Amino acid sequence: MLLDGTGSIVYFNVYNLVLVNCIRSPSIGFGHTPTYSDQILEICVTSFRNIVRLLYCIPMIVSCCDCVASTPTASATYNGTTHVFRLDGGNVTYAFGVNNEGELESVYWGARLAPTDPLEKPKHKGRAFEMDDTPQEFAGWGGGLLAEPSLKISFPDGNRDLVLHYVSHELDQGGLSVVLRDISRDVFVTLHYSIDAATGILARSAEIANKTKTPILIEQASTGEWNLPPSSEYSLRYLSGRWGGETQLQSRAIEQGTTVLESRRGTTGHEFAPWFAIAQNSAVTEWDGEVWFGALAWSGSWRITIEQDSLQQVRIVGGFNPFDFGYELKSNATLSTPVLYGGVAQHGFSEMSQLESSFQLTHILPQSPHPKVRPVLYNSWEATAFHVTEQGQEALANKAAAIGVERFVMDDGWFSTRKDDHAGLGDWYPDLEKFPHGLKPLIDHVHGLGMDFGLWVEPEMVNENSELYRKHPDWIIHFDGRPRSQARSQFMLNMAIPEVQAYVLGFLDKLLSENEIAFLKWDANRVFAEPGWPQVSPDEQKKIYVDYVEGYYGVIRELRRRHPKLEIESCSGGGGRVDLGVMGLTDEVWTSDNTDPFDRLSIQDGFTYAYTPQVMMAWVTDSPNWYDHRSTSLSYRFLSAMQGALGLGVDLNKWTDQDIAEAKPMIAAYKRIRSTVQQGILYRLVSPRDGSNFSSTESVENDGSQAVIFAFLHAEQMQYPSPTIFPRGLREDAMYTLEPISGAVAEGAPSSASGAFWMHHGLAFKLEGDYVAAAVILKVQ
Ligand code: GLA
Repeated sequence: MLLDGTGSIVYFNVYNLVLVNCIRSPSIGFGHTPTYSDQILEICVTSFRNIVRLLYCIPMIVSCCDCVASTPTASATYNGTTHVFRLDGGNVTYAFGVNNEGELESVYWGARLAPTDPLEKPKHKGRAFEMDDTPQEFAGWGGGLLAEPSLKISFPDGNRDLVLHYVSHELDQGGLSVVLRDISRDVFVTLHYSIDAATGILARSAEIANKTKTPILIEQASTGEWNLPPSSEYSLRYLSGRWGGETQLQSRAIEQGTTVLESRRGTTGHEFAPWFAIAQNSAVTEWDGEVWFGALAWSGSWRITIEQDSLQQVRIVGGFNPFDFGYELKSNATLSTPVLYGGVAQHGFSEMSQLESSFQLTHILPQSPHPKVRPVLYNSWEATAFHVTEQGQEALANKAAAIGVERFVMDDGWFSTRKDDHAGLGDWYPDLEKFPHGLKPLIDHVHGLGMDFGLWVEPEMVNENSELYRKHPDWIIHFDGRPRSQARSQFMLNMAIPEVQAYVLGFLDKLLSENEIAFLKWDANRVFAEPGWPQVSPDEQKKIYVDYVEGYYGVIRELRRRHPKLEIESCSGGGGRVDLGVMGLTDEVWTSDNTDPFDRLSIQDGFTYAYTPQVMMAWVTDSPNWYDHRSTSLSYRFLSAMQGALGLGVDLNKWTDQDIAEAKPMIAAYKRIRSTVQQGILYRLVSPRDGSNFSSTESVENDGSQAVIFAFLHAEQMQYPSPTIFPRGLREDAMYTLEPISGAVAEGAPSSASGAFWMHHGLAFKLEGDYVAAAVILKVQ
């Protein structure tokens, strides 16, 4: 147990390494520095809850002393003298305080500081012609605020002024909550903060409560503001894209003005990932320099603004997209924002991605903190498109099992009247022409081959030509009396409507209860248009942007509760729904419909800037590739896909004996390296971006016992040898044996050497021709 000198008594939880605060009542007023006896007294006399906590503390006091020094810690503290709150976790300190006006003002976000470092009481900032330059934690739009607000409200009497001041706080399980209130009206905002002990990644969200007697209209709501000190040196990294070209890493200088990353589509979207990274200056590289980063956990319309004001202060604000937003909050109701996770890396973009990956594995994914490695999957889509049949799928399953596939997934085309994309969505029962005895015979067959079975569904969608639409044309998102736009010949069911949620949950539950289905590929191939919800009053219709997503999340949550072994992939025309919200409910994501192995190098490279390789599905598909007609060798296709969670989407009926003979050892090798690739430490050694002719990645097992290195040559030119690469993260003194997976290393490379040798002497591959690749394992002897 520690007394942290600021009024909190803290103890360590030996399991998740999170430091928990025994609650300190905010009732001790400002200007009073609590003494040790104050603290004990306070705990003794406050609520029953606190007493229970104290009782819980006692055994910990005895048992935790030894674990303090050797484990990462997190703490949340409040200094009653300076009124500064401080969160420490990993290598990060985050601090903010109550300023002289009562506003909550940001103080510091960066590398971890010493416990005694001075963090002064913040002071409201303004100039003669600018009322407010204060970097607030959560600014209401009012009181002359010119920066991006976190919250904007219209009251029924026409007032739109909102000025939020500190009311109280509570230190709690590894985090804290701070309550703000408008200066005259009973609108309360509770800001939630917690920090991860291992990575220093903070989770922030806000809960807005209307305690006035009338409804209020929330026009804009974010998770809060993240402030960086003035500088003209910052640069922004973000991920942009489109269907078939997702997660392309972009870079731009941060200059006065605002960069807007957003989706207005009702879902996460392909166009931008809800993620940002800010480099401190132009010297930041993969390996060096300070980077602030963040990702929003929301799968609906979202917006992140990165704003540099006229004083060169930088603010990041992320949350619901205010475009077309209007959430009517009734008296005594609350609205919670999504969570924005933010972190700081001191050693460049590589460390940033490692922190993100580790955090997502241990805190975000449904199976966290120890998600199972992804099974090798076969998916029939590129082989058969809609033309699935029982016999055809069984034939593919036989071949898939023979080469080592562990999960067989039947894609689109299995249900109702689904012969192409013009009919059937909404009617989720097997097409009896294709599956005369239902899905059971195929599933039994797949199980008999030792694989588990997965199925494609697109639950939120309906075709005009379907029984469901004929019965419930009003269940789709639409405005009465207006055209209903179709995309891929389909409409979107309005998941905000309780009956729709019940229908979707009902058919999925039935499918899963009647069939042994281990996995669903949950697709969503279109986005909002004409976003009306005529079933509710006009004042409430814009709630669709929140309630749709909550409805979608709710169905998945309940489905998983009823079927705890179920795994789900989030797909949306490829990578159109990837974010930390959906990743909390699904086990993997479909990275892109573009399965060309060369294009995939840059898509996957960008993906890993924000998301863990564990969830990044990557298939080996046919050559020439359907998307861009490029021809590549089977080994090149395998090695590109083996950098993520491996799947196969080839037409196995076309495979020669030679293809099979080549694939089997590749799949066997992948099974040996997959925990390293999916859950280890990724180093992007040479980038495939910007026309790079050569690229390379390395993944190292967390204990350094094994590394896997992949290298890709785009086109051989003038017989230049492939560049020497310098692996990272190995144990300097350990001896590593080199074992080729595919392709060859350059002549003269030893078969065994120390970690120091490989890292400093380097390693070169023999890559000759175009679209060639090689991969090796370095294994501690
Ligand atoms: C989307 C998915 C594909 C496939 C098709 C089926 O495009 O991204 O992988 O499932 O739908 O219609």
